[in-house]
Amino acid sequence: MSKLFLTKSLSQLTAESKSDQGLRKSLSAFNLTTLGIGAVIGAGIFVLTGQAAAQYAGPAIVISFLISGLACLFAGLCYAEFASMIPISGSAYTYAYATMGEFIAWIIGWDLILEYLFAASTVAVGWSGYVVSFLKDFGINIPAQFTAAIGTVLVDVPEAGWKSLTPQLTKSLAESGINVETLPHLTGVINIPAMFVVALISFLLLIGIKESARFNNIMVVIKVFVILLFIGIGFMFVNKANWHPFIPQNTGEWGHFGWSGIFRAAAVIFFAYIGFDAVSTAAQEAKNPKRDMPIGILGSLGISTLLYIFVAIVLTGIVSYTLLNVADPIAVGVNAMGKGLFWLRPIIKIAAIAGLSSVILVMLLGQPRIFYSMAKDGLLPPVFSKVHPRFKTPYVSTLITGFVAMIIAGLLPINILGELVSIGTLLAFAIVCIGVIVLRIKRPDLERTFKTPLVPLVPILGAGICIAQMVSLPLDTWLRLIIWMAIGLTIYFTYGIRKSKIQNQKKE
Ligand code: ALA
Repeated sequence: MSKLFLTKSLSQLTAESKSDQGLRKSLSAFNLTTLGIGAVIGAGIFVLTGQAAAQYAGPAIVISFLISGLACLFAGLCYAEFASMIPISGSAYTYAYATMGEFIAWIIGWDLILEYLFAASTVAVGWSGYVVSFLKDFGINIPAQFTAAIGTVLVDVPEAGWKSLTPQLTKSLAESGINVETLPHLTGVINIPAMFVVALISFLLLIGIKESARFNNIMVVIKVFVILLFIGIGFMFVNKANWHPFIPQNTGEWGHFGWSGIFRAAAVIFFAYIGFDAVSTAAQEAKNPKRDMPIGILGSLGISTLLYIFVAIVLTGIVSYTLLNVADPIAVGVNAMGKGLFWLRPIIKIAAIAGLSSVILVMLLGQPRIFYSMAKDGLLPPVFSKVHPRFKTPYVSTLITGFVAMIIAGLLPINILGELVSIGTLLAFAIVCIGVIVLRIKRPDLERTFKTPLVPLVPILGAGICIAQMVSLPLDTWLRLIIWMAIGLTIYFTYGIRKSKIQNQKKE
């Protein structure tokens, strides 16, 4: 039993990070912050904000953003302490290895696949939606069956075009007097744009970390500029009446408006915050990780939180929240500003496409680096830690990640994946928070360039809020998490535990 809880010593980790000349150390504090912003701002703000406001919180979605942001801040502070202390690319996986032992580390490593790989596929599908709509504005139509996963039933909705058939769509069409059966139907074959973007970005990641960071910087500048433009112009069109009532009365059902609605919306939009932790997977490629990791993690989280809160204030001020239950709420906001502002519509789409591209990039950057660390420890086959001699990137794991993400994005119906991404991330956050307390007790003497304030209060609150958010997710999501973990444990007990370097060192 004690074998399962063998930890990797900090001196071992530090020695490994110093002797590892594989990955190229080229990222500055600025690059790390833009990587964080790149990963965070995406589908969450461009899609989920409006839906959560319309269904659960109304204008009080602003409070939901504050609550979810606070939970992420607590977790972010814990990540920052670890990342400044253990500058290894394995992120939460490595932190768990140093504090709670190999078994928990494996669980986290396996769990992080849910966060990074699955999030990349989920967001690639969102990217595909925006690109198809953007091209359509220019008269370029991609046949709908090649823009949806295999077996997805699509209906041609008047004025809106081809949409996936969901009970919600059937209901809203019925409310406007349209019988969905009378509309043309199609069955999806493959989502080619989603596969294309994953392939393209994987190729970029293969070529080099510098090139990838540069591309990410450009995407981040575009999306942040356009979001600021939306906030600036939007403020002039706010109709204060839209903010009343600020907290719409609860409908009688838990989670539908009122305070319970605010909490439910906070759990839903948690997805929007996912990604700042991905900064920590680039620790081995940072020039000065001890100083810059906390800047990258907390800086990107702070900037994204501010932008989210302002977008939520403006969006619910220019349109009634009741109109925001759509796939493109920001576009609905721009429409509400009147014809004079129609020029902003394609620009918003470009920003969304840029925004989602950088999310995919950072997720596809994070995953191979976790595989890389796991393979270095012997828990995955050595091929996963192969570094390209010229590009200095973990090219085999980048290729494997890209291939799997491409298949998921192109072929599988992914509406179930979003919540799986959230539950996986929440679990990782909770374990990192607990890890900070464990290491403070076990190794109080270690030098910590960044210290989480108010320990154990902040980590306890961080872990507590994450666990509470996990509990509020549906049972189905829990079942999927359990199945995923069962697959992971089978691999660990049939492969990892036998090949683990630390286990074998002990035997010798
Ligand atoms: N936070 C990322 C997004 O909203 C995953 O797209």
